[in-house]
Amino acid sequence: MLRPLLILTVLSLLTAGDSQSVDPCYSYTVLNDEWRSVNNTNALDQHCDAYINWQGWYRLFLGNSNARIPERCIEPYRCGTQAPLWITEPHPTQPGETVTVNVCDSWSGRCCYFSPQSIQVKLCYGGYYVYKLRTTVACNVVYCTENYTPVVPNVVDSICTVTGPTIIDVHGQIDSIQDRCAYSLFSTPSLPDFHVLGNFEDRRRTDVSFLDSVTLSLDGHYIHLEQGGRVQLDDSTLTLSSSPQLVHGVQLSKDQTGVTAKLSLSNLIISVFFDGDTAQIRLEGPAGSSVEGLCGNSSRSLSDLRLPEYSSTSCEMQYSEPADSTINCTSVTERCNLLKEAPFSSCNSDIDPEPYITACTDTLCKYPAVDGLNCQFLKAYARACSLHNHTLDGWTLKTGCSSEAFCQDRICSDHEFCGEKTVGADTRCFCRAIFASKYQANNSLGDPTVCMQNSASVTLVGCLLEDKDIDYSALHLNDPTCRGQVDELTHMVTFSFNSSNNCGTEVTTDNSQVIYKNTIMTQNSSSDIITRHDQIYIDFSCVQTQPDIKTETFRIRDSSVIQHLTSGVWDYTLTMQSFTDAGRTQAVESSTEVQLNQKIWVELKTDGLDGDMVVVVTDSCWATDQPSPDSTPRYDLIINGCANPADQTVQVEENGLGTSNYFSFNMFQFTGGSGDVYLHCKLHLCPKQNNCVPTCPGAARRRRSARSRYEGEAFISMAWTH
Ligand SMILES: *[C@@H]1O[C@H](CO)[C@@H](O)[C@H](O)[C@H]1NC(C)=O
Ligand SMILES: *[C@@H]1O[C@H](CO)[C@@H](O)[C@H](O)[C@H]1NC(C)=O
Ligand SMILES: *[C@@H]1O[C@H](CO)[C@@H](O)[C@H](O)[C@H]1NC(C)=O
Ligand SMILES: *[C@@H]1O[C@H](CO)[C@@H](O)[C@H](O)[C@H]1NC(C)=O
Ligand SMILES: *[C@@H]1O[C@H](CO)[C@@H](O)[C@H](O)[C@H]1NC(C)=O
Ligand SMILES: *[C@@H]1O[C@H](CO)[C@@H](O)[C@H](O)[C@H]1NC(C)=O
Ligand SMILES: *[C@@H]1O[C@H](CO)[C@@H](O)[C@H](O)[C@H]1NC(C)=O
Repeated sequence: MLRPLLILTVLSLLTAGDSQSVDPCYSYTVLNDEWRSVNNTNALDQHCDAYINWQGWYRLFLGNSNARIPERCIEPYRCGTQAPLWITEPHPTQPGETVTVNVCDSWSGRCCYFSPQSIQVKLCYGGYYVYKLRTTVACNVVYCTENYTPVVPNVVDSICTVTGPTIIDVHGQIDSIQDRCAYSLFSTPSLPDFHVLGNFEDRRRTDVSFLDSVTLSLDGHYIHLEQGGRVQLDDSTLTLSSSPQLVHGVQLSKDQTGVTAKLSLSNLIISVFFDGDTAQIRLEGPAGSSVEGLCGNSSRSLSDLRLPEYSSTSCEMQYSEPADSTINCTSVTERCNLLKEAPFSSCNSDIDPEPYITACTDTLCKYPAVDGLNCQFLKAYARACSLHNHTLDGWTLKTGCSSEAFCQDRICSDHEFCGEKTVGADTRCFCRAIFASKYQANNSLGDPTVCMQNSASVTLVGCLLEDKDIDYSALHLNDPTCRGQVDELTHMVTFSFNSSNNCGTEVTTDNSQVIYKNTIMTQNSSSDIITRHDQIYIDFSCVQTQPDIKTETFRIRDSSVIQHLTSGVWDYTLTMQSFTDAGRTQAVESSTEVQLNQKIWVELKTDGLDGDMVVVVTDSCWATDQPSPDSTPRYDLIINGCANPADQTVQVEENGLGTSNYFSFNMFQFTGGSGDVYLHCKLHLCPKQNNCVPTCPGAARRRRSARSRYEGEAFISMAWTH
C-alpha cells in the first residue's frame, strides 16, 4: 500500500540560496494545517510532504496555538498521513539556539522506517520554534504537529539600544523621540526603586533630537551619564577608571568606549552603557523578568512615558527647519545597509539588523552625517552583537569607524554639545540649535547688558564666538587691559567695568538719562599686514534715569524716609533725613521735639551711585501741609538749585558736588493748616565731568544755570553693533 517514491533531493538545495542575513525567528512561513495534528486519526486523510517545494524556515501552528514536531514516535495513520514524521532528538532549550535534529517516519512497526534525515530547528526568544524543513523521502509521509506548552526560557537576556532619536526595544520594535523631554527608558518590576531615564536634546538642528544623557535613579540618588564620559552623582562629578567603583550599589567603570553602570543582584544583572551618543541597556535575569519603559512594552504611548518632573517646561515644543539639501539619502541608505553585509551578517541571525538600519536611515536622511553619526548606528549594532558574543572581526576596518567613544573627555555645558570641527579632526563644544536661535534672531553674540549697582557687564556666548572663529582672548574693552573672563562651566565670556576700574567708559548725558558707554573690540593688530579675523565692535551701554518729581515725600514729623528707586537697571537708593545739628549727627527722630524757628539740616543722600562718575543735584524743595507734593498751599525752600531768596533762613550748604546734598532752614508751620509739614525735593543726576554745581543769584554774578531739566521716564536701552 505504501509506495515509496524517490524524490529529487535537489529541491532541498534551493533553500541553500537563502540569505543568511535574516533571523528566521522574524522571517518564516506559517504552517497551520489542522490535519497535521497527532490527534487526527482519520486514516482516509492522506497527505504527502514530498511534493512540497520547502523553502526556508517554518513556524508551526495548530489553530491559534504554537505547535511543534513531536519528540516521540507517532503511530501510523495519524497526522493526516500514513507514516508521520517525528524528531529523534530534543528541541533546543536556549533562546536563540539552533540545533540539527533527525526526523524519522514511523511505519510498518518501525519508528524509523526510512533513514533519518536532518533538519534544523531554532528556539526563538518568544519561546516558539522555527524549523528549516526539507522534502520528505517518500509518500505518504508528512511532518506531524502537536500542541506544547511554549518553553519559557529559564533566563531572560534582553538588550535595548537607544541611539540618536531612536529606541530599539527588547522586542526589536522601534520608537522615535521628536521632542527634548526626559523619558523612562527602563525599569523592571523586580527592582521597583531602580529606573533608567533618557534625556533627549537638540544638537545641530532644531527638529532632530538626540539621546543626550542617561540618568540612573536609585533610592533617591541620581547617577547621570553624560557626553564626554562625565559621570555625576547627584551634584558631584565622579572620577572613574576601568576598574569598577561601587556607588550606591552600582558598579561604575569607564574605558575608551564609554561608561558602564552595572547592577548585579543574586539572579539579576542590569548593565547600562553610554558612550555619549548611544545607550545600551541589558537585563539578564530569571524567566519572567520583564522590562518596562520605552525599552519594554511598546504598547504604551510615548506621552505615558514622558517624565515631566525631569523635563524642561517647553520640551514638547516642535520645531521645523528646511530640509538639508546636501544630504544624499541614497548613499546614506547604502551605508546603513552595510549592516546586512559581512562581517555584520554573521550576527544578523541573532540580532535583527532592520531596526538599526531604519534608525540609521531615518536619522541620516534628515541630519548631516557629522559628529561621528556616520559610524554611530553601525557601532551600536556591533556592540549589541558583541553582547551576544559575535566579535564581527574587521568591522572597524571595513567601515572606517572606531569603537572608541566620540568626544571622550570633552565636557560641554548644558546649552552645548560636543561635535567635530569642520576643519581638522578635532572636536569642540557647539551651541545647541535652539539655544543659538535666540541669538541668531537678534544677530547677537550674547546677552543684553546687565547694569548693576556699581558695575556693568556684557556676557558673550563662547560657542557663538567659536562659530564665528573669534578668539575671546583677543577681545578687550575701550581700555585694552580690560579683557573677558571665561566661565569654565558655562563657557560664557564676561566683560565688565565698575567704578574702580572703568575700563575707558565714556559718560554722556541727554535729556532724561546719563549714559555709560563702552565697546568690546578686537586687539589692535595693525602691525599685521593682513588679518583673517573679522573686526569686532560691540557697543554696550548702561543708563541712569533721572529721579522724577514725585521722588520724595518727607513729613517732618517723621524721622526719615527711604525710597528704593529702581531706575531701569542701575539701582540706587535715595534717603532724605533731617538733623538738628550742622554736623548731621543728631537725627530728628519721631520722639525729637522740633521747635518753631529751630534750624534744621536736611540731607539728601544716595547710595549705589558711582561718585567718580555722577553727582546728584537738588533742583527744588518745597513744603506742603498735605501729603501730596502738588497740594496747595505750597512754600518753596529751594528753587532751581538755589535757596529761595524770599526766605533768608534757607541755606544750600552743598549741592552738585557729590552723591549727597544738604541744606538748612528754620522750622515754620502753615498758618491755619493741619500742623503737619511735608517736605518734597526733586533731584537729578549729572555726569561729574560736567560742572554740575548750580550758579545761584546773590553769588558774584547773576547767571542762571543753563542746564536742562530732566523729567524723563525711566528708560533702558542697549546698543549692539558689530
Ligand atoms: C490532542 O489531544 C490531547 C489529549 O486529549 C489534548 O490535550 C490536545 O489539546 C489535543 N490537541 C488538539 C490540537 O486538539
Ligand atoms: C504590555 O502592556 C499591556 C498593558 O499595559 C499588557 O496588556 C501587555 O501584556 C504588555 N505586553 C508585554 C509584552 O509585556
Ligand atoms: C547619491 O548617491 C548615489 C550613490 O552613492 C549616487 O549614485 C547619486 O548620484 C548621488 N546623487 C546625488 C544627487 O548626488
Ligand atoms: C557569551 O559568552 C560568555 C562567556 O563565554 C557566556 O557566559 C555567555 O552565556 C555567552 N552569551 C551568549 C548570549 O551566548
Ligand atoms: C532679542 O531681541 C528681543 C527683542 O528685541 C529681546 O527681547 C531679547 O531679549 C533679545 N535676545 C537676546 C538673546 O539678546
Ligand atoms: C571692579 O572690577 C575689578 C576688575 O574687574 C575688580 O577687581 C574689583 O573688585 C571691582 N570693584 C568693585 C568695587 O566691584
Ligand atoms: C590701532 O592702531 C592704529 C595704528 O597704530 C591706530 O591709528 C588706531 O587708533 C588704533 N586703534 C585702537 C582702537 O587702538
